[in-house]
Amino acid sequence: MAAAEHLTELEAFAREVAGCTRCRLAEGRTQVVFGVGDPNADLMFVGEAPGFHEDKQGIPFVGQAGKLLDKLLAGIGLERSHVYICNVLKCRPPGNRDPVPDEKEACEPYLFRQVELIRPKVIATLGNHATKQLSGKETGITRVHGQEQRLKVGSFDVLLYPLYHPAAALYTPAMLTVLEQDFARLPELLGRTVAPPVEAAPPLVEVAAEPAVQLGLF
Ligand code: URA
Repeated sequence: MAAAEHLTELEAFAREVAGCTRCRLAEGRTQVVFGVGDPNADLMFVGEAPGFHEDKQGIPFVGQAGKLLDKLLAGIGLERSHVYICNVLKCRPPGNRDPVPDEKEACEPYLFRQVELIRPKVIATLGNHATKQLSGKETGITRVHGQEQRLKVGSFDVLLYPLYHPAAALYTPAMLTVLEQDFARLPELLGRTVAPPVEAAPPLVEVAAEPAVQLGLF
């Protein structure tokens, strides 16, 4: 049997996108950064666009913001391999500038197809660009972070959960605290299917509830 016949639909789609020339970003990129993680993940993260390191390695969130994302995941008992991570734009904008409308428009079908193939329960959007792109609304992240909203992608229902972008939280301690608090609600939103509570014998005496997550990121 030819090797190509063993590809999942998502892998086949990634190969197709690897040759994309729909916008100017194709000219300056090292490679398309399609996405990584579990193709059947319940939780999908969508960031903004690849940066310098992502462009070189072909993997989203491998720089400082990615390290913070890893810590936040660990704080709720998850690893990268349990979730799926991608970006609104699959190619690096020059100098890491913000994505512009025609680039987002050109890339949008790729993101929507990824969502349809992965069928996550929750999409956590990281920052303004991903949140606006997926919600289809202009309301900024400061107003909507931490508030889940039902979303239809094609015929598919999913929960959209906007979060601050980890890159922004890296330099703003108050924002990091909010991001940690918002992150701590993810297990609840996922119905605890990815972080099942540890089975414990019933306590003999009543004990005070522990704080849900203590990340100690400072
Ligand atoms: N790295 C990514 O892959 N995406 C971002 O949005 C930021 C850093």
